[in-house]
Amino acid sequence: MHQLSAYQLIAKKRSSKSINSAEINWLIDGIISKKIPDYQTSAFLMATYLNGMTKKETAQLTEAMMKSGTVLHFDSQEVVDKHSTGGVGDKTSFILAPIAAACGVKVPMVAGRGLGHTGGTVDKIESIPNLKTEMSLENFKKQLMDSGIVLIGPTSEIAPADKIIYGLRDVTATIESIPLITASILSKKLAEGTNALVMDIKIGSGSFMKTRKRAEQLGRSIISVSKHFHRKCCALITDMSQPLGQYVGNSLEMVESINTLKGEGPEDLTHLSLELAAYMVLFAKKAKNIKEARKKCEEALYSGKALEKFKELIKLQSGDASFIDNPELFVVAPLKTEVLSKKSGYIKSFETQEIGLRLVDLKGGRKTKEDKLDLSVGFIFHKKIGDKVKKGESLVTIYHQKNQQGLADEMKEDFVKNLIKISNKKVNKPKLIVNILK
Ligand code: URA
Repeated sequence: MHQLSAYQLIAKKRSSKSINSAEINWLIDGIISKKIPDYQTSAFLMATYLNGMTKKETAQLTEAMMKSGTVLHFDSQEVVDKHSTGGVGDKTSFILAPIAAACGVKVPMVAGRGLGHTGGTVDKIESIPNLKTEMSLENFKKQLMDSGIVLIGPTSEIAPADKIIYGLRDVTATIESIPLITASILSKKLAEGTNALVMDIKIGSGSFMKTRKRAEQLGRSIISVSKHFHRKCCALITDMSQPLGQYVGNSLEMVESINTLKGEGPEDLTHLSLELAAYMVLFAKKAKNIKEARKKCEEALYSGKALEKFKELIKLQSGDASFIDNPELFVVAPLKTEVLSKKSGYIKSFETQEIGLRLVDLKGGRKTKEDKLDLSVGFIFHKKIGDKVKKGESLVTIYHQKNQQGLADEMKEDFVKNLIKISNKKVNKPKLIVNILK
């Protein structure tokens, strides 16, 4: 074979030509070994962003990225995971994983930290004192097989090529590319050993796929590449035009997750968690059809078995399980500022992405990877789209520190002027699950 060069591969992609698997493997090897400099990788990513990739190229890129680190294998068809494209108040993992595990599914969660307007599963669960989210992959496998539930943070052993590529995409405006997102998500999920995947793809003001059309394109791309690797996959297209549930902020979201596991959660969060868990149960062959899977999930939730599974996870990972019995132990910021409605009417819309960014302003989210978080700050929303509201009623409670009163007062104005819109006319509630792609 002739000598390959990054220049040639960039030129091919720039001219909308396909590259073959040997070329893709060479590229990923070069990125990992640092033989290819960041500027050439970035140029390749931009050419791919602009001209796309075929399904075959996307699958080959996924495979090369997956093989850039350790690849776990489980023969068991019971190993099933979920992945969400992220949003504001999205805490379904803490609810659906114990539900599915209580039904006999094995859920291998390798979760992320928050960056930008979306929160991170690992940051949220770390509001439980002493909880460890780092462990060897040997222990990860053992806990998965023994208990059926395990949660760790990002590790350089799983798909290290994605870490480098994602870092470059983040600063070169090349995140929103369907082949690059597909390869990024699936390289990690396949490497963690999942045999089936339930995708939750968000649409609306708090999501990063802004239209239903783009979300469905992403869903179809992920399903098609999963099938190439003989993995079952489905994608639920779900609403993120308003925060999911009522609580936003790291500790606050854990409190709401535990309430939900006690059967006392908000309707949207409970329904979505049950529905995602039901597809996991079906894929793991723990039910004959989706109806039976839903029933099993409801039983696991309302009998308290899922809550017990969650407690088991916390104990196995050295966390303080008394927080599960007494969620009031979670540290919540000392001051509350109420956002009062300036008029009567019906809630029309939320600027959800902006709301996620206000949490970052309170230091509940990160601007850079190095930022230290305040897990105790956040918001409790008292209204949903379509709800009736009276002048003077509280729309949101802001939880903040003493030195943030000025910021909270500014936010209060921002919420009523810009972030929550109220209409004089009745407003329909948005559909939570918009479509299911299989
Ligand atoms: N989530 C990922 O893991 N990768 C992407 O590229 C986008 C979202």
